[in-house]
Amino acid sequence: MRIMKIAKLLKENGIRRTCGVLCNYAEYSLHRRHVFSFPSAIDIEVTSRCPLACMHCPRTHREALGLEFPIGDMDRAKGLELIRSLRGVRRIAFQGYGEPLIYPHIFEFLAEARQSRIFTAFSTSAAVVNDKMLAGLKECPPDLLTFSCDAVNMRYDDGVRENLNIEHYQDNVAAIIDAVRSSAKPVEILFHTCIVGDNYKYLDDIVAFAAKQGVKTLDISELNISFLEKWLDRLLPQDKELMMTAVDKAKETGAERGVTVGFTPQYVAQDKKKVNCRYLWQHPFITWQGELTPCCGRPFASQFTLGNVFDKGFYALWNSEQIKQMRHDIANLNCPDICRGCPYAP
Ligand SMILES: C[S@@+](CC[C@H](N)C(=O)[O-])C[C@H]1O[C@@H](n2cnc3c(N)ncnc32)[C@H](O)[C@@H]1O
Ligand code: SF4
Ligand code: SF4
Repeated sequence: MRIMKIAKLLKENGIRRTCGVLCNYAEYSLHRRHVFSFPSAIDIEVTSRCPLACMHCPRTHREALGLEFPIGDMDRAKGLELIRSLRGVRRIAFQGYGEPLIYPHIFEFLAEARQSRIFTAFSTSAAVVNDKMLAGLKECPPDLLTFSCDAVNMRYDDGVRENLNIEHYQDNVAAIIDAVRSSAKPVEILFHTCIVGDNYKYLDDIVAFAAKQGVKTLDISELNISFLEKWLDRLLPQDKELMMTAVDKAKETGAERGVTVGFTPQYVAQDKKKVNCRYLWQHPFITWQGELTPCCGRPFASQFTLGNVFDKGFYALWNSEQIKQMRHDIANLNCPDICRGCPYAP
């Protein structure tokens, strides 16, 4: 099995990057303080602008949380330079707390990453679609495109995705799928649904929508509730057993209709005596202003930053004394202050 995985990595990434990925895995497994390899994956928030205000997204509640959260776009030249400096990374997801498709340079960024054979991905709410986006998606799509399907039709009129023009949602998704399917490059398409409140009641609608669009995979996940403690009454399902029954039913309906339905429960570490976090070794986050943060679960630079990659360069920050201390703490099962409340923290 492992050999098959390595063979796939080699085929997709070439020898140099495969060695980098294996080295990164080894450094994580050994919980090294100093990491010589690049992280296997990185999230780059190209923009923090977004037309929606989803009730499960910490971005929506930034003011109530007292979080300073600047709104803006990544500088084009600095972003391209950053991507060039990340040649050893296997996968970049161009997303954070904003809508990637409205970032004006998204296709240039995708092209730059592809030139370095970096696997590219992002998730879209499909809230906005225009001809320029469709042309860009046809010309230079990501390798993996995820649609966030947290509300897909009029039955979800409970504000899960505030500001979404739900009547146009399915048409928008269909137009985007047509564009990427007409591209010369193969694109993996994924539907993803967060369980928010009681929206699990409509999972079958999402399965039916996926089947109609010929999308073969639907991932369902519970919420990351960090930052959202004040709103849990609205955000968590009232009856978890009913929710699980609905998920099982969606899996069955999916199997009948050619859609593989997966489910990721909100992670709760079973064993607090083990190192459960891999992000500090394998998957950090960069905000649109270039701030490096430990992971997408701690994305607010006003709260915590490991430094600015535009000023200091990614690789220098990847082994700063600050991040090495965090790795050391986590490896020794001490929780860094910023990680308190995270299910992966010791
Ligand atoms: C933060 S959004 C950014 C990309 C784009 N705006 C979108 O909605 O697809 C990426 C994904 O995170 C999900 N998300 C938002 N808040 C979440 C939370 N508290 N827990 C888990 N997933 C969340 C969204 O539903 C979406 O699928
Ligand atoms: S569309 Fe994405 S970034 Fe915007 S509020 Fe919703 S989940 Fe957050
Ligand atoms: S312990 Fe949690 S918050 Fe801290 S770096 Fe890991 S995933 Fe992020």
